[in-house]
Amino acid sequence: MRRFSAKYLEDTRRGMWDDRRALAPLSLRDREHVVDVGCGSGELTRVLAAETPGAVTAVDADADLITHVDAADDRVLGDATRLPLVSNAADLVACQALLINLPDPVDAVREFARVSSDLVAAIEPDNSGVDVESTVPAEAALTRRARDAYIAGVETDVTLGSHTDEVFADAGLVDVETRRHEHVRETSAPYSESDIETAQRKATGARLREQRRTLARGGLSEDDIDALRGEWREMGREVVEQMQTGEYERRTTIPFSVTVGHVE
Ligand SMILES: C[S@@+](CC[C@H](N)C(=O)[O-])C[C@H]1O[C@@H](n2cnc3c(N)ncnc32)[C@H](O)[C@@H]1O
Repeated sequence: MRRFSAKYLEDTRRGMWDDRRALAPLSLRDREHVVDVGCGSGELTRVLAAETPGAVTAVDADADLITHVDAADDRVLGDATRLPLVSNAADLVACQALLINLPDPVDAVREFARVSSDLVAAIEPDNSGVDVESTVPAEAALTRRARDAYIAGVETDVTLGSHTDEVFADAGLVDVETRRHEHVRETSAPYSESDIETAQRKATGARLREQRRTLARGGLSEDDIDALRGEWREMGREVVEQMQTGEYERRTTIPFSVTVGHVE
């Protein structure tokens, strides 16, 4: 199972649900019991709890992450494909950025349909469509090169947000609706502590070192990876330098979809 830190989840979700109109298909105001599967540190759980008058249960397989969830009525340690909940326990089972991390997302959605008496929802990114604009000239192209190799080598479908409706249909859900949205993340002066840490980490090339095996599976030779990492570190140093003078700006657009389907 891919592991995430609470800090990473907090940083990458910042601002995502400032505007909640994309959640309208979940009819949160009408729910009696909502389950958030793969809740992580509870970034979506907090939004669900604020929007529904019903009870909220948060489920995750990571015993450490789930201790960070503060907005749920109940926190349950469990696997998405074998939820420790009775059939029809909820009227909405939802997840955010979970299915892209699972080897068999259809199995999980089928399990969501067992636990929900009404609706299943998934909010999933399409990592093939991420767009980066940066004041450091090399950053956009390097990010694209690294991401393409990662997507080709990773063992789960991290582009699932582009076809979540097919996964829902394969799991037997009906009246499936999906809609594409964008999460835009901007970095500019004054920089937060987290912006500075991210830039410093970029300059070490640590992420590419951690992803080495995935990048190799994605078709890069050892020499390709070393060359990419060298260029990446140089780019990271330029980001840090631009931050020192306050001129660094970056805009990242992450496409994601909100998909809902009914239980028959
Ligand atoms: C990218 S994080 C998303 C967390 C949260 N939904 C959010 O968007 O901030 C994926 C989460 O799924 C959890 N996870 C991965 N595989 C799981 C499984 N088989 N069953 C339950 N949770 C799982 C991870 O522990 C992690 O918390």
